[in-house]
Amino acid sequence: MTNNYFVPETELEKQREYTELVKTVLGSRFMNKEPKAFVHTYGCQGNVSDGEKLKGLLEKMGFGFTDTLEEASLILYNTCAIREHAEDRVFGNVGALKQMKKANPELIIGLCGCMTQQKHIAEKFYKSYPFVDLLFGTHVTHKLPEFIYRCLCSGKRVFDVTESDGNIAEGLPVRRDGTFRAWIPIMYGCNNFCSYCIVPYVRGRERSRKFNDIIAEVKDVVSRGYKEITLLGQNVNSYNKNEDPELRFPALLRAINDIEGDFIIRFMTSHPRDCTFELLDAMAECDKVAKHLHLPFQSGNDRVLKEMNRHYDRAKYLQLIDYAYERMPELSITSDVIVGFPGETYDEFKDTLSLVDRVKYTSLFTFIFSPRKGTKAYDMEDPVSREEKGKWFKELTDLQEKIAGNRTADMKGKVYKVLVEGRSKTEGMLSGRTQGNVIIEFLGDESLIGKFVYVKVTNPRTWVVYGETV
Ligand code: SAH
Ligand code: SF4
Ligand code: F3S
Repeated sequence: MTNNYFVPETELEKQREYTELVKTVLGSRFMNKEPKAFVHTYGCQGNVSDGEKLKGLLEKMGFGFTDTLEEASLILYNTCAIREHAEDRVFGNVGALKQMKKANPELIIGLCGCMTQQKHIAEKFYKSYPFVDLLFGTHVTHKLPEFIYRCLCSGKRVFDVTESDGNIAEGLPVRRDGTFRAWIPIMYGCNNFCSYCIVPYVRGRERSRKFNDIIAEVKDVVSRGYKEITLLGQNVNSYNKNEDPELRFPALLRAINDIEGDFIIRFMTSHPRDCTFELLDAMAECDKVAKHLHLPFQSGNDRVLKEMNRHYDRAKYLQLIDYAYERMPELSITSDVIVGFPGETYDEFKDTLSLVDRVKYTSLFTFIFSPRKGTKAYDMEDPVSREEKGKWFKELTDLQEKIAGNRTADMKGKVYKVLVEGRSKTEGMLSGRTQGNVIIEFLGDESLIGKFVYVKVTNPRTWVVYGETV
């Protein structure tokens, strides 16, 4: 794909004009009161980052924000389609808005994100949820000002699920949720078509932002005091894959590492297929890059990996892990696993257990296979019952719990640099994460939130370690 996927400046300018129009309409409709938007995002950090842009656009139109549905003049759900459960929650929450719309016909109810990009879902909302006023897919986010204008002025429902390979709208306003942690997308879409996964269908083809645009954004947030930068993409390792090596992901990491300031760099997600020794070298050599690698393996069995269309095998995965530990002995590795892929046998699942035991992950995100309409695995035979898969799942989480406990026990007495993220649930305690992404809690004053401190681990538990500042 060539770089003609950028939304043209003329289109962005048109949307800025709509922004002004909306502002005028809202001004006369709400007089001196600020209309409030309730925006809720489901799903991955990429979606959270989109949500920050939606809020940035709404803010420019003159909206304030609320966490209370009853206060809102606009309700917008930014949805996720990764598993059935994610979609069920949205159907439930949207269904509950029916009465609110009845009581307040002026209320705008909107839906966007990965779920709405699917035709059958958009149709369902159109037919069975007549109180939904606005629905748009993932490729037209930058048109939000126009959509809101049409909702306000036409009195008609606005539905736009444009099919597309995807685009990049550079320079949209961003209203960041955090004041010291920033999400920075570096690429969008996915070309991998893992057989179980809906993402390539709802997010379009892989496309990368320009190297310099990313550097400029990181410099901007660092100069405004952000302390943790997370670079986002479904497969960050294939950033600028077809460009010169000095524009690819390892080079990007090095260039960001060279930006002056006290901050840490994280990235996700890495796909083992495109993870190279070169990337692991860059991680090891860049002092600001957190020594944490999220490298999803999905299954430890070669036949299942092949059916999943993952394009690596167990041996290649372990080779990467061995090299990573060799270069970074303190490295913390996390992963995603799917239990009960169609046709997986218990013997094959045992290969997942043995891989987990071999790698010694810090933590795992474990999922039971969820069939997604439109994907290849949706039509595969799936003879193992849900109950049986539940037992396997429990076996896996029990094993991981033991491993995590051993890993955190080893942290006792060691000192970690920690970005303080907020108050813990325990009175008087603060909470943060180590570079390796382990939650750490300690006594401290609220003024430390958003700053780096050094914490010595005194009492490690499985999922949280306790310590004291030094
Ligand atoms: N791009 C990332 C993953 C994004 S989705 C990667 O390839 O690593 C996050 C995780 O959700 C996946 O790693 C997978 O473990 C899980 N997942 C995706 N589709 C799923 C499905 N249909 N059922 C169960 N889990 C799924
Ligand atoms: Fe989905 Fe695979 Fe792409 Fe990840 S790499 S988003 S699991 S298709
Ligand atoms: Fe969900 Fe879409 Fe992310 S399906 S996980 S929100 S890319």
